[in-house]
Amino acid sequence: RFADLCAAGRVAGRRVFIRADLNVPLDEAGRITEDTRIRASVPAIRMALDAGAAVMVTSHLGRPTEGQPRPEDSLAPVAQRLSELLGRSVPLVTGWVEHGVQVAPGDVVLLENCRLNKGEKKNDPVLAQRMAALCDIFVHDAFGTAHRAEASTVGIAEYAPIACAGPLLAAEIDALTRALQQPQRPLVAIVGGSKVSTKLTILNNLAQRVDRLIVGGGIANTFLLAAGYPIGQSLAEPELAAQARAVIEAMRARGAEVPIPEDVVVAPTFGPDAPATVKAVADVGPEDRILDIGPRTAQRLAQLLQHAGTIVWNGPVGVFEFDAFAAGTETLARAIAASPAFSIAGGGDTLAAIAKFGIAEQVGYISTGGGAFLEVLEGKTLPAFEVLARRA
Ligand code: 3PG
Repeated sequence: RFADLCAAGRVAGRRVFIRADLNVPLDEAGRITEDTRIRASVPAIRMALDAGAAVMVTSHLGRPTEGQPRPEDSLAPVAQRLSELLGRSVPLVTGWVEHGVQVAPGDVVLLENCRLNKGEKKNDPVLAQRMAALCDIFVHDAFGTAHRAEASTVGIAEYAPIACAGPLLAAEIDALTRALQQPQRPLVAIVGGSKVSTKLTILNNLAQRVDRLIVGGGIANTFLLAAGYPIGQSLAEPELAAQARAVIEAMRARGAEVPIPEDVVVAPTFGPDAPATVKAVADVGPEDRILDIGPRTAQRLAQLLQHAGTIVWNGPVGVFEFDAFAAGTETLARAIAASPAFSIAGGGDTLAAIAKFGIAEQVGYISTGGGAFLEVLEGKTLPAFEVLARRA
């Protein structure tokens, strides 16, 4: 871990290369619309500066074509935002693989979008060696990119004299370990979202580990089908009902449970003004669309969360963007906030729900990873974790 190297006095005067995930959303005019990832990357940079290192930071931005830079691929807006956050100038360096990097101890530079370098994506060893030659210490602090094996994430970690985890990556690893490897039980997972197909591996993996697996959204509809209930016109994947049934049975065989909703909120159409009606699950009609869990179900699940030891949350349980169908997700969000359990949440929709209901402070850990968080829930070992463990 980088913090240990700093504490041991092994960083002063060294060239430190930090791979951060500064892949933030930009609007048409190139303005940053959400800067959580930049703010989350500041502690590693400050740690390196405080330890007296010469600091280089890079990240990808979007998915540009290697070797063909366009103005919108530039990290310039990120350099600007980083300068504001650090209270010092952060020059942006282009052509850094070809020309090298001039940076003095106590200074920091941002290296232009690493996905513009030819060979980045396919983890070209020649590119990785050239990047590794720029530094004494490589710090992987890009959890959001930890599921990618690219030259700036995995290749450089193979060849740098020292490779270690930055504070953000370390915090993510600690929170995930606490939630999934050594959870305080009961361990309750909430997996919401529209499709079983995109989360089948997650559902199968969690079915082996968790005590209660709460499903929501279109995923829950497929589980309702599997349990033999009518779902009318609701979004679902009937072809995956057998897989859903297998998850229910695998859980039951372990003495665990997938709580099936007892009531739901339905509407005849999909939209913010669609009239909402609460129905018992058995009463869903042929024209109904299920757009949220009902109040009795929400209360029962809130109780479960109240008595959980650990909560893992990915995905809303209803169409929370529309107020008429937001109550289920809001009830669960508030129950997570009030629960004494350690909670971890991740994924774009989940973060939007946390922001909407203003409970960020009460969630134990909010992951900065999108795809990376999902791959951990799938039970995969991320390439970044693997290489760092090997080089430790
Ligand atoms: C993300 O936005 O999830 C990460 O920055 C990874 O981006 P990628 O999917 O383009 O690799």
